[in-house]
Amino acid sequence: MINVAVLGATGNVGQRFVEQLADHPWFNLTTLAASERSAGKPYGSIVKWRLDTPFPEKIGKIKVVPTSPRAMKNVDLVFSALPAEIATGVEREFAEAGIAVCSNASSHRMDPMVPLVVPEVNPEHLGLIDMQKDAGRDGFIVTNPNCSTIVMVTALAPLRQFRFTDIRVATMQAISGAGFEGVPAMAIYDNVIPYIGKEEEKMETETLKIMGTLKGKKVLNAPFKVSASCHRVPVIDGHTMAIWVDIKEPVETLKKAFRDYKPPIRGLPTQPAESVHFFEEEPDRPQPRLDRMRGKGMTVSVGRLREGIRFIAMGHNTIRGAAGASVLNAELIVKKKYL
Ligand SMILES: NC(=O)c1ccc[n+]([C@@H]2O[C@H](COP(=O)([O-])OP(=O)(O)OC[C@H]3O[C@@H](n4cnc5c(N)ncnc54)[C@H](OP(=O)(O)O)[C@@H]3O)[C@@H](O)[C@H]2O)c1
Repeated sequence: MINVAVLGATGNVGQRFVEQLADHPWFNLTTLAASERSAGKPYGSIVKWRLDTPFPEKIGKIKVVPTSPRAMKNVDLVFSALPAEIATGVEREFAEAGIAVCSNASSHRMDPMVPLVVPEVNPEHLGLIDMQKDAGRDGFIVTNPNCSTIVMVTALAPLRQFRFTDIRVATMQAISGAGFEGVPAMAIYDNVIPYIGKEEEKMETETLKIMGTLKGKKVLNAPFKVSASCHRVPVIDGHTMAIWVDIKEPVETLKKAFRDYKPPIRGLPTQPAESVHFFEEEPDRPQPRLDRMRGKGMTVSVGRLREGIRFIAMGHNTIRGAAGASVLNAELIVKKKYL
């Protein structure tokens, strides 16, 4: 077993990490860290557990520590659910202390030495870890994309065998993506907010890195353009998006690609039986309430594939789009023997 810690363990994504790691077959959750406000107290006495799964009582006894490598003993890997402005320096500090970091925060995603990985899409990008080692770090940082980007690139994975150019996407994003205190009920109830700060830029840039090619020690960006329009809607969990892709192949060929899709990696504990579920017959799916927990929240659902080429994709934003994505990356790191 590999001893692991969660940074930002009391937060929205941090709680998802605790849920995903409490009984993990490869990782032993020994350490929980949060701000100085929480440090020194048992996790169970300070966390406001907001998930709809039972609180893992055995984890409740763990005493929360400050967010520093010096406060942790025998930890090989940390999962970061820190706010981006805190994560920038803290994650670097952990990597320099010889600890592997799997991060949800946006701080290092576009760093040319840092892999931005979705195991079903670009597992080979983990090769960038060697660059961090060459630069003298004992540990390393691996990131997962923004929650809406993860759903989109996972949904596009079965179509990568075809040449496509522009991608256009309009999202309908859940309120949990902004954290518990993020969007006031009075602002979102009976409403749609047609703006999510920095979200469109993240979808437009992160996608090109993830779908780019690792050449030598560099990722060359994918040669297409992404135009995103992002919207907050009154859904608790599950980001839905309408995607248009310029592909020449007929729609029947693309349906077959979704039906036949096999991801490039298998056998990771958090990987669902189906990375992409394709609704071929049902005209009104996917829907967040009905489909977000498919594959324990790790399956991305696709439907309404039609001429244009247009389709709908949907995935759980705090599981597949955040904590589950990071845990899956950590499993890939172990499988590829970087840890
Ligand atoms: N929500 C999503 O769907 C989602 C999806 C993808 C990525 N993300 C990213 O994940 C990260 C966490 O988001 P979230 O929604 O979970 O945030 P959150 O609910 O506000 O939680 C923040 C966590 O960070 C800790 N923290 C705050 N300031 C700190 C400091 N100065 N030093 C150490 N720890 C500190 C907090 O501890 P205390 O309780 O002690 O204050 C808490 O545990 C962000 O970077 C976000 O962009 C979120």
